[in-house]
Amino acid sequence: MDIARTPATPDGNPEMADAAVEPKAPPEIRREDYAPFPWLVPTIRMEFDLGLEKTRVRTTMDVERNPAADASPTIRLNGDGLQPVSLTCDGGDCAGHMMDGDDLVITLEGDRHTIEIVTEIDPSGNSQLMGLYASGGMLCTQCEAEGFRRIAFFPDRPDVLSTYTVRMSGPKAQFPVLLCNGNRTGEGEGGDTHWAEWHDPWPKPSYLFALVAGDLVARTDSFTTMGGREVELNVWVREGDLDRTEHAMESLKRSMKWDEEIFGREYDLDLFNIVAVSDFNMGAMENKGLNIFNTKYVLADPDTATDGDYDGIEGVIGHEYFHNWSGNRITCRDWFQLSLKEGFTVLRDQLFSADMGSAPVKRIEDVRVLRGVQFPEDSGPLAHPIRPDSYREISNFYTSTVYNKGAEVIRMMRSMAGEELFRKGTDLYFDRHDGEAATCEDFVKAIEDGTGLDLVRFRRWYAQAGTPKVVLKLEHEGETAKIRLAQTVPATPGQPVKEPMPIPLKLALFDRSTGKHGGEELVVLGEESAEFAFDGFAEKPVLSINRTFSAPVSIERAVPREDLVFLAARDDDPFARYEAMQELMTGYLVAAVSGDLGENEREAARADIARALEAVIEDDRLDDLMRGELMMMPSHSYIAEQMLVAEPGRIHAEREALKADLGARLASPFHALYDRAAKIEFSLGAEAKGARKVKTLILGYAAASDPAKAVELAAWQYDRADNMTDRQGALMVLAGLDSVERTDKLLDFYNRYRGNALVIDKWFALQASSLHPQVIEHVKALSEHADFTLKNPNRVRSLYMAFAANPHGFHAADGEGYDLIADLILELDPINAQTAARSVPPLGRWRRIEPGRARLMREALDRIAAAPRLSRDTFEQVTRSLG
Ligand code: ARG
Ligand code: ZN
Repeated sequence: MDIARTPATPDGNPEMADAAVEPKAPPEIRREDYAPFPWLVPTIRMEFDLGLEKTRVRTTMDVERNPAADASPTIRLNGDGLQPVSLTCDGGDCAGHMMDGDDLVITLEGDRHTIEIVTEIDPSGNSQLMGLYASGGMLCTQCEAEGFRRIAFFPDRPDVLSTYTVRMSGPKAQFPVLLCNGNRTGEGEGGDTHWAEWHDPWPKPSYLFALVAGDLVARTDSFTTMGGREVELNVWVREGDLDRTEHAMESLKRSMKWDEEIFGREYDLDLFNIVAVSDFNMGAMENKGLNIFNTKYVLADPDTATDGDYDGIEGVIGHEYFHNWSGNRITCRDWFQLSLKEGFTVLRDQLFSADMGSAPVKRIEDVRVLRGVQFPEDSGPLAHPIRPDSYREISNFYTSTVYNKGAEVIRMMRSMAGEELFRKGTDLYFDRHDGEAATCEDFVKAIEDGTGLDLVRFRRWYAQAGTPKVVLKLEHEGETAKIRLAQTVPATPGQPVKEPMPIPLKLALFDRSTGKHGGEELVVLGEESAEFAFDGFAEKPVLSINRTFSAPVSIERAVPREDLVFLAARDDDPFARYEAMQELMTGYLVAAVSGDLGENEREAARADIARALEAVIEDDRLDDLMRGELMMMPSHSYIAEQMLVAEPGRIHAEREALKADLGARLASPFHALYDRAAKIEFSLGAEAKGARKVKTLILGYAAASDPAKAVELAAWQYDRADNMTDRQGALMVLAGLDSVERTDKLLDFYNRYRGNALVIDKWFALQASSLHPQVIEHVKALSEHADFTLKNPNRVRSLYMAFAANPHGFHAADGEGYDLIADLILELDPINAQTAARSVPPLGRWRRIEPGRARLMREALDRIAAAPRLSRDTFEQVTRSLG
């Protein structure tokens, strides 16, 4: 029996829990402690009496002993801030019950019982946005990972699967639309209230439960599955937003078709609903048959959404839809297995987007996110394996590691197996585990059995954190080219010693004179080190390595700059071409920041980079979308990542100086390219999209080399823009430059879009991420703006997360940027802990920053740690970051 903190009174109403200070360290949950739940809950019926301030929930569940678990005399039902209003077992008194902290523990003597519990909640007071909450007058839910326990007492863990029947009733005028998972099985009305009953035939864990009640309108369409099922599709939004839902609907239909063709997965209900809500902690949620989305990933038209927004919507709609199989039909046994559904589903959405647009550009974008966000995470205090071993708050593990590195790990299996065999592996996985709560091990085993690969050592990718480093040497003797590879996996928190991991590397060896190679090879570095020899090279070849970014590793090699110039101009793998450009610029910037370059060397390197970039501008085999990728400079965070200890001020200065130098040297080819691109008329097609991309990149170079000219050109682009991409691009450049036009256009933008929350978010973000010298003053002023609120996560992100990702502001030498973020965290934590905790990682980078700033960053973290009542979320992130 568990230790009771709050004894229950005989009538079933526990006394008020002592509202004392929360214990300082919330408990650590460990993967190795997993045990199946002693009870099954095959069916659950819920009745919601809906109100914004008071919602009453009657939950009736049938429970029976789990033959696969150790017997227990009690059942533990998780709660979070709930009190049972009433409680019965089999229609009468329970044999015993008590509150243990937030949980309700009930004594059960028999093998089968029916438990009925009533709870009452206040959705309007729920600012955490977990559980049932109010958003702009409507009611909606977010239950992943542990939000269901804020609605009802229940075994809130992903391995307890139940069939749900839900009756919801409420005032008709306030909530004309009532939605839940599955199919609607009944409806009716009486007086001012109405009700709907929903049944979801597919057993699911509580985190996939969802409910929506509000005044909404839908774009409706349909899709006929490969098996002939006619599915009704709805995208639900507020009245005024309906004409911005076409792209979401089209993306949904394309996702459904694609998953049938590529993974053989068919939809399994007659109805698929998507609802857009403006207050949402994350991007979207895959609740069975009722996906709930952040409006940001639903609403788009050319006047208000950028090309990036369009791509984001397609990707996230796909992602949530694909979860229906990778997540819902097969879910996770426990939250340590999160990457089972997230890593795999990210891979699926990446492959989908690649098929819908430019595959090479999509691959480059994905790698940029991985290296810009996941690599820093993996080399810092928050590093964890894609299958973590412990956590205090699971919300902190919805990370780029679990999502993006998780996708890379599965992508490696796909590369080693080949597409066809990989499909055999995934077919087997879906077939073998349908209806189950599975583990990452189950997935790997299915891929192993389906493909015939030996993945014994490969499993280490699930267990070990840290980005492997591969040191490469290319030697040439006689006719033979030899590649020596050696890997190390760096120590990470809790994992001082690592084992080597199989690293699949695609490579090609180019003949210098013909510019051709004899075919791409895939080598797997399975040990600590290995050597691969290739014959038939009279001259030392040019090596193109880790093509398509076949492994999520960093490669260290001494490579002559002329080889990079060669690859940047001619590599037939577009990713490798991009990589060569990045390596050229990164190599120079790291050396320049470290003070390793004399003036002659600087000049020689800059000239080479300019030559390579000019070749890119003038290469007419390239489309502009790809050209834009090749024109991009490596990000500040990527450059910092290459250095053991970074000096943010110097990185920024050198990066801007290189941009200015290239802008000046290439002024005339840039100008010609801009002119050509400016003639292309607006459309959502690839050509016009590419034109918009290169135009704004050129503005960025001009801003560094010739600010006055850039202001003029950006103002011109802003004024004649007939779409958000051009307008935002121009405004972004203007936001960084002191000028009358800056003020004018920012004001114009605000007035034009006032009242459109998603666009006003952009207005905040543009200023918070600007290169303007007074960016900190701007952010402070914006935090006082009438449109700013800590209650809306999109708005918080648009101001503060944009700022924290702006090295030029965040890393101000006097620590003011750090203080700003620490103040935000302290103020936001009691309102929305999940969002507050997500601002901690930028401060956690202190070990890799020069000592002066590192001290200031630590001080900011110490100040947060000293606060009397931190949420579990923020507590965990801050203590790990101080580590
Ligand atoms: N499963 C959702 C997705 O990846 C994310 C939900 C995250 N929720 C949270 N509270 N952290 O699409
Ligand atoms: Zn997901």
